[in-house]
Amino acid sequence: MKTIKVKDYEEMSQKAAEYIIKKVRNNPKITLGLATGGTPVGTYRNLIEDHEKNGTSYKHVTTFNLDEYVGLPQENPQSYRSFMDNNLFNHIDINKTETHVPNGNKETLHTECKSYEKTLIDHGGVDLQVLGIGSNGHIGFNEPGTSFESKTHIVDLAPSTIEANSRFFESEQEVPTQAITMGIQTIMNSREILLIVSGENKRDALFQLLNGEEVTESFPASVLRNHPCVTIIADEAASANIKYGI
Ligand code: F6R
Repeated sequence: MKTIKVKDYEEMSQKAAEYIIKKVRNNPKITLGLATGGTPVGTYRNLIEDHEKNGTSYKHVTTFNLDEYVGLPQENPQSYRSFMDNNLFNHIDINKTETHVPNGNKETLHTECKSYEKTLIDHGGVDLQVLGIGSNGHIGFNEPGTSFESKTHIVDLAPSTIEANSRFFESEQEVPTQAITMGIQTIMNSREILLIVSGENKRDALFQLLNGEEVTESFPASVLRNHPCVTIIADEAASANIKYGI
């Protein structure tokens, strides 16, 4: 794993965007795997600024998002479809039909999971997957205990995830308790991974990822150590207690 230490959230966002822009310019037909949540908002803002200023085009780019809540209408402002539209897709020249987010409102959620996985495979897989990390070590919504062999599936969100994500809702009761997420194997199949980490509340998770003793399903992000091409961009607040490797 390659680690890049930066000063703060702004620098992480800038460096992550530069990384993505370079890949898009080198391969205008790239398939990006994308994350939601607080961490990538600044990265997406930098992508938009660059698109407006330098004209980087996303016309031929395809995207697959990691996850979506179960039971929230896509138009709900807190759905991950709305998040992606509002924070990125509506502001760049991407073809919306090539932006894939699981649909957490299908009656047959298992069929939706299978079809999401199949669409991704038929498309040739993800070239560059952008990831955040949960303070419990989740990647996507693969909570501790998820099999490393998992493909796109339905998950019960961990109480700590519901609590962490309640900041985006009026109250904790409004946070959906389930989600559809790419599985760990789905994520590991991406050709390249960019993990962005910011803030003191991620310090323990980053420490365990870089300095922890073992690769274990009880700490999902540890699987990234088995991936041949991972870059981590982490800010000082997140990496303060890292003893080596960053
Ligand atoms: C979001 C996702 C999650 C988040 C993680 C960190 O699509 O898959 O794994 O990356 O929960 O969330 P933030 O960035 O809000 O701290």
